[in-house]
Amino acid sequence: MTLRSSAWFEANGKVGFYHRSHTKSEGFPDDLFQGKPVIGIAASWSELAPCNVHLHDLAQSVKAGVWEAGGFPFEFPTLALGETLMRPTAMLYRNLASMEIEELIRSNPLDGVVLLTGCDKTTPAAVMGATSADLPCIVVTGGPMMNGRFRGKTVGSGTDLWRFAEDVRAGVMTPADFVASESCVSRSNGHCTTMGTASTMACLTEALGLQLPGSAAVPAVDAARKVFAQLAGRRIVAMVRENLCPSQILTRDAFENAVRTNVAIGGSTNAVIHLLAMAGRAGVALSLDDFDQLGRDVPTLVNLKPTGEFLMDEFASAGGVPAVLAEIADLLHLDAITVSGRTVGEQIEGAHCWDRSVISSRQQSPPPPGNGTIVLHGNICPDGAVLKLSAASPDLLHHRGRARVFDSIESFNESMDRADVSVDPSEVLVLRNAGPYGYPGMPEVGNLALPKPLVREGLRDMVRISDARMSGTSFGTVVLHVAPEAAVGGPLALVETGDWVHLDVDRRALNVEVSDAELSERRRRWKPRDLSGQGGYVQLYRDHVLQADHGADFDFLLGSRGHSVPRQST
Ligand code: FES
Repeated sequence: MTLRSSAWFEANGKVGFYHRSHTKSEGFPDDLFQGKPVIGIAASWSELAPCNVHLHDLAQSVKAGVWEAGGFPFEFPTLALGETLMRPTAMLYRNLASMEIEELIRSNPLDGVVLLTGCDKTTPAAVMGATSADLPCIVVTGGPMMNGRFRGKTVGSGTDLWRFAEDVRAGVMTPADFVASESCVSRSNGHCTTMGTASTMACLTEALGLQLPGSAAVPAVDAARKVFAQLAGRRIVAMVRENLCPSQILTRDAFENAVRTNVAIGGSTNAVIHLLAMAGRAGVALSLDDFDQLGRDVPTLVNLKPTGEFLMDEFASAGGVPAVLAEIADLLHLDAITVSGRTVGEQIEGAHCWDRSVISSRQQSPPPPGNGTIVLHGNICPDGAVLKLSAASPDLLHHRGRARVFDSIESFNESMDRADVSVDPSEVLVLRNAGPYGYPGMPEVGNLALPKPLVREGLRDMVRISDARMSGTSFGTVVLHVAPEAAVGGPLALVETGDWVHLDVDRRALNVEVSDAELSERRRRWKPRDLSGQGGYVQLYRDHVLQADHGADFDFLLGSRGHSVPRQST
């Protein structure tokens, strides 16, 4: 086979001289990089992204595997999107990171790529970019942190932070204890320990066939994480020789497997947006409604926070993703091909669950099916909205209440934190202008904090609606991703405080009980906010971002574009 990298390293004259000479200047003999698969190791490493800070170390294990298999590794840094430090939200930069990765792959002498990811957005960004470039690629996620432990109890990332924060507001936890818990929740390298977005996307890349079987759940500090990285380094060299590209792996069948797996693991609502965006890059027709349809007969089997008890370490010990896939094998496309070169069915042969308290059996104690992320429609959300059923309160799934509307998260927080705010628990809290275009970037603020006086009385859930996202570590009866968003004129912009809102989960319906004539009149009076004139990347983002029901990708990035060798300008 002719290697793509040979267009650089085996070129004649001054062009080849230039490429070889400067590569040798890094200390490499030229027989190392000529005639061998050149493997990029795209490491989203940064001290500004704490969940990914160990990925440079992990890259050394990948390199060892590449060398062993007869390839030549080039490690390069990519934009690291740290969920915790970036403002206004890391999601604003997911598409930018994907573009950077795509263009770094396309513009350099690479034959294959290992994608080192971890924190929430880094995994979908890398997959989106590599899918567009369509060179052989394999994902290695950084693994979750060690389990959190605080005063004798196991505590999970995000989930227990939200609980502690409510406990402080309720006056049952002191601010000093709250601070003391900080270093007990986050104890080591790695991403969040709960089935939040990072864990979800790690598991779903495995279900999609992009990550080696059994690797997604392994903790960051477990020696097996390095072993999987080394195996991935070996495997990517073989993938180059087999020319096994994302376009062969990321088929409609693979996405259906991932959608169903997301229900089985109790995965994050953010997976909906990321899978839609990834499918868009792959040119696979996947719609928001597919998530509801495909998820209806799938039980949630994994008992992890935020909706269950355990953390990723226990999930890994119980058998991880292969054990879950084996449990729902009859619902999967078992002939889908994966990065290992084997099918999903071949990979889960012999997969075993070692702890039924962590991964339920469908035969022994069948949980109710269809309790993953459902899709709602109605006159508030004509293009859809999502609700994570397993994270919601059963008594709020059929609810009628008066809306209390906020135009910004700042005005919401200011109002709800007042000790004298008067809110009835039956009210529906509505936040708008927090969608992809409006905020911009669609922040994770949809799990709106409950009114302080009600928290002090012990209330722990209310119906909340927004065009925002929420952290995968969150819980509650929270309707998210309302599309179209308010800032582009979606009907959420027309809801007024005092309107009756009706949520009916059985009918998958979310409506405001206002006549069409009245809504038309409100639309006539509605004026969009002036969000122009910011320039730079934010302007590019606003000019091209798609709505949540299309994955919030850029319109000009849809469809795979491949990896032909760029022109040489020297
Ligand atoms: Fe990085 Fe949760 S903050 S994975």
